[in-house]
Amino acid sequence: MDTYLTIAVDIAKEAGALLAQLFKRPQEISYKSEFNLVTEADRRSEALIIERLQSHFPKHAVVAEEGGGQKTGSDYCWYVDPLDGTTNFAHGFPVFCVSLGLAQRDELIAGVVYDPTRDELFAAERGAGAYLNNQRIHVSKIASLGESLLGTGFPVFAADHSLNIQLYYRFTRISHGIRRAGSAALDLCSVAAGRLEGFWELKLNPWDKAAGALMVTEAGGRVSDLSGGEFNLHKDEIFASNGLVHDAMCEIFVEVRRENRKEGIGNRE
Ligand code: IPD
Ligand code: CA
Ligand code: CA
Repeated sequence: MDTYLTIAVDIAKEAGALLAQLFKRPQEISYKSEFNLVTEADRRSEALIIERLQSHFPKHAVVAEEGGGQKTGSDYCWYVDPLDGTTNFAHGFPVFCVSLGLAQRDELIAGVVYDPTRDELFAAERGAGAYLNNQRIHVSKIASLGESLLGTGFPVFAADHSLNIQLYYRFTRISHGIRRAGSAALDLCSVAAGRLEGFWELKLNPWDKAAGALMVTEAGGRVSDLSGGEFNLHKDEIFASNGLVHDAMCEIFVEVRRENRKEGIGNRE
């Protein structure tokens, strides 16, 4: 098990160094759909990661955002986001990372998130805690929503954002504010490191959240859906918190979602 994490750390650092190097150059952007960007860096980072994972763990399955993964009959599956924060990266906004999560029969067992711009390496292993640059990290102890700093994100594809806009509005008025940093994996690590009390997002893929979700639980936090129900890697939504503000936030998510549905808006969320 230690080997999985150790190797994933090396791979994430290598891919992160590649991203840092490519970040200095002008970006060539292409579009997967109307607002969904992809750069040379996404593709090159993914190719590097897949090559390394396949050479170390040829039998493991790999699900990677840019499609370079492989299906095998293995119980082990790597969820790879070769560049989380592509829109930031393409605009020269220095908030992005590499995210690698490993699940065994859908249970997360190891995760690494590497932010090359700050040289911050987040690593977690099931039952062994979460670490930032080899120092143990813990979620914050803030128990009141009124003293909390929160985070969220919006999908890059053209969606109906009305529910999340309403949540954004609602929580902005009762907290220290909401950050929309543009990298879900780093947002989850911010909860794990006690920098944010809570983070939610409605439309994420497994590669955005696999490593970050484990980071939060291993740092003593709680991860669920927006109603407080069990977290499911294959469900779109995620809500991660320090645990202390969890129930209070879930009540608001449920209430705003109910109001939204009654109004007949935001059905696509
Ligand atoms: C995106 C980022 C962003 C989140 C989007 C994701 P990408 O991932 O994590 O913060 O709001 O929903 O798609 O496309 O940069 O890998
Ligand atoms: Ca992503
Ligand atoms: Ca990505």
